[in-house]
Amino acid sequence: MPQTHKMSSILLLPLFYLLFSPSSAEIAAKPGVNYGQLGNNLPSSHQSIKLIKSLKAARVKIYDTNPTILNALQNTGIQVSVMVRNEIITNISSNQTLANEWVHSNILPFYPKTIIRYILVGNEILSQQDNVTWFNLVPAMRRIRQSLVLHKLKKIKVGTPLAMDCLEVSFPPSSGKFWSSLTDSVIKPLLQFVTKTKSFFFVDVYTYFAWVADPVNIKLGYALLQPNVSGYIDPVSGLKYGDLLDQMLDALYFAMKRVGYPDTRLFIAETGWPNDGDVDQIGANIYNAAVYNRNAIKKFTEKPLRGTPLKPGVVLPSFIFALYNENQKTGPGTERHFGLLYPNGTNIYEIDLSGKTLESEFKKALPVPTNNEPYKGKIWCVAERGANTTALGGALSYACGQGNGTCDPIQPGGKCFKPDSLKWHASYAFSSYWAQFRKSGGTCYFNGLAVQTTKNPSFGSCKFPSVTL
Ligand SMILES: *[C@@H]1O[C@H](CO)[C@@H](O)[C@H](O)[C@H]1NC(C)=O
Ligand SMILES: *[C@@H]1O[C@H](CO)[C@@H](O)[C@H](O)[C@H]1NC(C)=O
Ligand SMILES: *[C@@H]1O[C@H](CO)[C@@H](O)[C@H](O)[C@H]1NC(C)=O
Ligand SMILES: *[C@@H]1O[C@H](CO)[C@@H](O)[C@H](O)[C@H]1NC(C)=O
Ligand SMILES: *[C@@H]1O[C@H](CO)[C@@H](O)[C@H](O)[C@H]1NC(C)=O
Ligand SMILES: *[C@@H]1O[C@H](CO)[C@@H](O)[C@H](O)[C@H]1NC(C)=O
Ligand SMILES: *[C@@H]1O[C@H](CO)[C@@H](O)[C@H](O)[C@H]1NC(C)=O
Repeated sequence: MPQTHKMSSILLLPLFYLLFSPSSAEIAAKPGVNYGQLGNNLPSSHQSIKLIKSLKAARVKIYDTNPTILNALQNTGIQVSVMVRNEIITNISSNQTLANEWVHSNILPFYPKTIIRYILVGNEILSQQDNVTWFNLVPAMRRIRQSLVLHKLKKIKVGTPLAMDCLEVSFPPSSGKFWSSLTDSVIKPLLQFVTKTKSFFFVDVYTYFAWVADPVNIKLGYALLQPNVSGYIDPVSGLKYGDLLDQMLDALYFAMKRVGYPDTRLFIAETGWPNDGDVDQIGANIYNAAVYNRNAIKKFTEKPLRGTPLKPGVVLPSFIFALYNENQKTGPGTERHFGLLYPNGTNIYEIDLSGKTLESEFKKALPVPTNNEPYKGKIWCVAERGANTTALGGALSYACGQGNGTCDPIQPGGKCFKPDSLKWHASYAFSSYWAQFRKSGGTCYFNGLAVQTTKNPSFGSCKFPSVTL
């Protein structure tokens, strides 16, 4: 008997190490960070890598194959995920030479000194208007993979991050279902590809967007992954949910199961919470951002692994979005405020991506949130301080060219003509435009030249139009 025991333990040893050595499972559990670069005021690549290390991120995801960044990541031990631009997917899908060239010029010069682990083909392709690319996505992934095999780089996995809108039904989670129109043509081939190649189904999951769509029925604490909220029980599966992230992840697991892929692994390509936003957006503040990201990191790094109600114990690799507030992102204010850091490199709030800092060890008190309830009152849209005057002139003409009489009061002799300055006229035009068009989707943005304000800019007999919430 002892003999046999010894034999078997020797035989089991290598397998044991394969399965339980700290390398795979532990690194997999450690969150990374998305290093977006859509800002004109961001630190250098080298400085950024230092900051990423100071955040204790185990991995980083970039949205391209920027050679300066990939060089700066050499010998850092940080695992890297790179991206194939959306625009070249269609060409790559039908041209193996092009795929080989892409790998040759974007991966080979940096690998293995830079630990490239994932090549993500495109970003949220199924959320793009251009539906030609949808059907070329998986063929392009196969070609990239084929060229990795050719170069004996099978350790590098190929995936593609989708947004939650890949689901037609996400509630209750047990009803999770992909869009029927895409299931056979895109989803099943994608799941088959990532499963067969031991890659992941990458997905961008934001409880924030689900919550803002229905803040009346979804409790904020449930979206913030707070431990003390009453949960939700799925009436069909009977599974009990303690937070909205688990609920959204299980909707994905159920959807995969429904089309025959119950064991495909998920990888959270993006998650996060905005630290600021426009006056007409709710819940975007430093307090909530810190609470969400700290709770998410705790959840991802907890031992033993928590997984989700449907998949207890499974590892959930993840990237927090994002490293910086990025001032050149378009859309509502929240888009420019998902950062862990200000563009000058200082922390917006204390955060430790390794999950090793306890909540009680964060030193600074978080600012009390003031916008967790919808703002009620009037809002105006005015020119941003220091806005580029050439661009402002263009935006003024654009705003005045829309609608009916948008800019009559700023014509010579009009009630808002004086003071006769570009900034004043642009502010009037922006407010007037936004008051007319907000209902039909018009925004107070103008390429970053405009900003919302609750302070009435009207002066004397000049009355600025406003939006009333
Ligand atoms: C795709 O290929 C076509 C034909 O070779 C070429 O004209 C086009 O510029 C390519 N598109 C991109 C985005 O590279
Ligand atoms: C495929 O890509 C290669 C490399 O970019 C290019 O030279 C070739 O013309 C392409 N083939 C076709 C059919 O577009
Ligand atoms: C792709 O988009 C075009 C134009 O919007 C539409 O006519 C067509 O039906 C779409 N095709 C698919 C397969 O969704
Ligand atoms: C849950 O805990 C947080 C942080 O400790 C606290 O701010 C909040 O008021 C609590 N909520 C409920 C419903 O108890
Ligand atoms: C960095 O930027 C933030 C936000 O603009 C500011 O509050 C902070 O003082 C700046 N820190 C340094 C060291 O410049
Ligand atoms: C100002 O805007 C104009 C037009 O958009 C642009 O050409 C110019 O480079 C900008 N100037 C600065 C200093 O950003
Ligand atoms: C402008 O006013 C006319 C007449 O009142 C109306 O028919 C038209 O729809 C208006 N256009 C816009 C863009 O509001």
